[in-house]
Amino acid sequence: MAPDPIPRIHRVLGIETSCDETAAAVVDGGVFIVSSIVSSQIDLHARYGGVVPELAGRAHVELLTPVLAEALEAAGCTTSGSGIDAIAVTYGPGLIGSLLVGVAEAKALALAWDVPFVGVNHLEAHLFASLLEQPDLGWPLVVLLVSGGHTLLVEVSGPGRYRLIGGTVDDAAGEAFDKVARFLGLGYPGGPAIDAIAVDGDPQAFAFPRAFMAEGYDFSFSGLKTSVVNTVRKHPDAATEDVAASFRQAVVDVLVAKARRAARDVGAKALCLAGGVAANSLLRQRVEQACAEDGIGAFLPSRALCTDNAAMVAAAGWWRLANVGASPLTLGADPNLRLVPTA
Ligand code: KG4
Ligand code: ZN
Repeated sequence: MAPDPIPRIHRVLGIETSCDETAAAVVDGGVFIVSSIVSSQIDLHARYGGVVPELAGRAHVELLTPVLAEALEAAGCTTSGSGIDAIAVTYGPGLIGSLLVGVAEAKALALAWDVPFVGVNHLEAHLFASLLEQPDLGWPLVVLLVSGGHTLLVEVSGPGRYRLIGGTVDDAAGEAFDKVARFLGLGYPGGPAIDAIAVDGDPQAFAFPRAFMAEGYDFSFSGLKTSVVNTVRKHPDAATEDVAASFRQAVVDVLVAKARRAARDVGAKALCLAGGVAANSLLRQRVEQACAEDGIGAFLPSRALCTDNAAMVAAAGWWRLANVGASPLTLGADPNLRLVPTA
């Protein structure tokens, strides 16, 4: 007997709850964003200077239902699932309590609506954010994925074909921005705060260290963070703008040098940015300039697609469903999921 034909998947409902953004989106054909709603918990966590996992999990429970309803309504779908062909959800990496909320909801909806369910790797979703806006970038690509939890250089030779080139040996770039901002009293999240204030500062005021600058593809930001703390203690009158500008310059110098080296060595057609730190104005400017000099494409996703959102989850889920298949409903949340499995 011939197997049942697999119905064509058009509209995927994406769900993202891995950290402090509760998000839902409907994406058609893997590339067309029909609706995308992101509810940030920034105000909830700001007074603690960082994400409090227990609070994040509870907030997702409260926010996910209204966020889903809004995304479905904006897409012209009903909360009974009409018009949705599949459900994609981030199942890792991230905070376990937060991931569980999204995964449980996605499974429940897939069962109730009788549509396929697919688990998506949050890091892969960030890579798909680039493809949402420019599907014909050309391969191979080098993607610099810089977020609050990760700093990775990845060679992408096609969707689903990733090779890890380098990563951080300690703090992630976004984590360094957040910690330095907290120390400087600039609030949370630190990246946008430092980016804004650095505009009025002198990036040459302090010569902060640039770790592993001359060799390899790995990053280290903890020494830089310590150097900022020691410098400010030694020069209590230093202008915060100058410290912020010098710190941002040091982070961006290292990110751009390594990404550029990787792109050259791999023979990449383009260099892509992904993750929350990709919203940094200096990083965007410097990557564009470097790529123009090297004669390769630069792709900088819009800021809304750099930070956590569910459209990128739906896009990655659509691709997985078409090329790998649905996930079993026994799939669990995996807080330590990697982009490329290690041996
Ligand atoms: O990708 P994302 O939204 O969440 C994670 O998966 O981590 O990234 C959040 C991170 C935070 O550390 C935040 O400070 C940083 O991205 N970020 C920035 C900027 N906007 C957000 N870092 C530097 N400059 C920015 N403009
Ligand atoms: Zn992220």
